[in-house]
Amino acid sequence: MDCEKRIALTGFMGVGKSSVARHLAFLLRCDRIDLDALIEANEHRKIADIIDSDGEAVYRRIETENLKRALNKTGVRILSLGGGTWTIAENRELIRKRGMTSVWLESSFTHCWNNIRFSKKERPLARNKRSAQKLFDSRQELYCLADWHFIVKSDRTSFDIARQIAEEVFS
Ligand code: S3P
Repeated sequence: MDCEKRIALTGFMGVGKSSVARHLAFLLRCDRIDLDALIEANEHRKIADIIDSDGEAVYRRIETENLKRALNKTGVRILSLGGGTWTIAENRELIRKRGMTSVWLESSFTHCWNNIRFSKKERPLARNKRSAQKLFDSRQELYCLADWHFIVKSDRTSFDIARQIAEEVFS
């Protein structure tokens, strides 16, 4: 397995980026960073609090700063992004410049929405189905810019997806 390769996982909220990243890091025995978790640890508050009190624009700046920190950490080969990280051109450029391979976990809106609805994680940009669907639709063409696409369906576990990525991307 080519464990020199470093990957950034993108995709809409609720698709399972963090779970796939966790399994992938286990399978490849690599270190990983979850960008949302890094932001919350460094900012000492929840992402929902940042977006609700300071607005999305401020949150995006914080997100880019933390993306830079994550990319500068040596030895980290798996990075799970927030659902909006990859949609910002500057972030895509940073990820590419660091030589990371981008992987889009592609799924239907229904699949993501069902996970969002039943998740404990608060997602201020997906509080109602209509606005979440609009965001989902508008982001497809940007997620499409990732190097690899893997289809996530309800009958496949996040471990199945991680194994497929490990076999195909890292072989
Ligand atoms: C966001 C997705 C969230 C989090 C923030 C904004 C987005 O991460 O970064 O609420 O813009 O899609 P998840 O995709 O891990 O839920």
